[in-house]
Amino acid sequence: MAVNSRISGLKDRSVAERRALVADGAEVEAAALEAFGAGGGLGVEQADHMIENVIGTMSLPVGVATNVTVNGRDYLVPMATEEASVVAAASNAARIARAHGGFRASGTGPVMIAQIQLLDVVDPYGTRTRVLEAREEILELANAQDPVLTRLGGGARDLTARVLETRDGIQVIAHLHVDVRDAMGANAVNTMAEAVAPVLAERAGARSLLRILSNKADTRLVRARAVFDAELLGGARVVDDIVSASAFAEADPYRAATHNKGIMNGISAVVLATGNDTRAVEAGCHSHAARDGGYSALSRFEKGGDGHLVGTLEVPMPVGLVGGATRAHPAAQAALRILGVSSATELAEVIVSVGLAQNLAACRALAAEGIQHGHMRLHARTVAAGAGATPAEVPGVAERLVKDGRIQAEYAREVLRELRGQEQ
Ligand code: MEV
Repeated sequence: MAVNSRISGLKDRSVAERRALVADGAEVEAAALEAFGAGGGLGVEQADHMIENVIGTMSLPVGVATNVTVNGRDYLVPMATEEASVVAAASNAARIARAHGGFRASGTGPVMIAQIQLLDVVDPYGTRTRVLEAREEILELANAQDPVLTRLGGGARDLTARVLETRDGIQVIAHLHVDVRDAMGANAVNTMAEAVAPVLAERAGARSLLRILSNKADTRLVRARAVFDAELLGGARVVDDIVSASAFAEADPYRAATHNKGIMNGISAVVLATGNDTRAVEAGCHSHAARDGGYSALSRFEKGGDGHLVGTLEVPMPVGLVGGATRAHPAAQAALRILGVSSATELAEVIVSVGLAQNLAACRALAAEGIQHGHMRLHARTVAAGAGATPAEVPGVAERLVKDGRIQAEYAREVLRELRGQEQ
């Protein structure tokens, strides 16, 4: 039986019921979701092997976005975030996209770039050409560093070079292009870069300095596209207003930063839940937003010929299924089981689709009722819990905060005292 991401009413269930429904929907055994228990499945001893000077661990809420369909397949998508309304918004937007077949995703393949900086350059174009002449030898040497990757069909694919004018003189920058398959790839490409640098420097007649991957991962791009039904969005006027909101973000870096932050609300939450490197993805996305020199929106919303809204998003997506926290963190492993993806490319396609869903939800809310309406209801629950309300008390306290238009910690404590007084 294929996974069905359309679980209605998940929000009205208890955490235990949700776990059972998600395990059922994703076709994994219920025990796999125990990693999401208190502590997030990561013991202090295990954490002690991951970083230095460990004093403990820190947990975040993990929710599951529903309704997500990518390339005709349904996914239940775990999202780790502290921000209220993100998971609900992604699920709503995915439901709207579903009416026209969900998200279509495609990409360039999992190729990462390692940079090797060459200094003491006498004849820059001669140096660049000598680098290119060494291509076959360098690719062979790079591939010898990682026989497993080559066996899996990956490996170093190309060597390119650029002449770069800097305030410290002319440098030549070599780029080693490596297909990293299901890895994020940092370790693989950094090892290769360090191994080939001395030989490359000798062949080029220069001195090598930095040898490190580039987070501007523009040879690992993923695109998502969806048609959002005009009627489900709230009518033709809402479609036109979302197009105007998109044009605003395309033209204005102040708005683009916030627009893109909305996209990252979705992207980073899935990247984090799957144990991937949020900083690498964020650096890649923002560098892509500035690829033409100015900082602009990562997505586009247009009105299609049939009056529906067409959303597109293209970003670098360097995520992996193997290595690092993806393998080591029990909750990340459980998240990947729920997702049921079989390659890093498939994971990247789901992540970018969720980014587009998140972006649509924010733009729709902004262009229609405003963002605070839904946001404050959820925020009120966080404030209530922060003020000491028990899970049973949270809904009552939150409701009062919203009704009175005072979503503040001090007022939440006052309401709590009042409600508890009434019960005695
Ligand atoms: C808030 O976390 C994200 C938004 O500001 C995004 C946007 O403005 O598009 C709502």
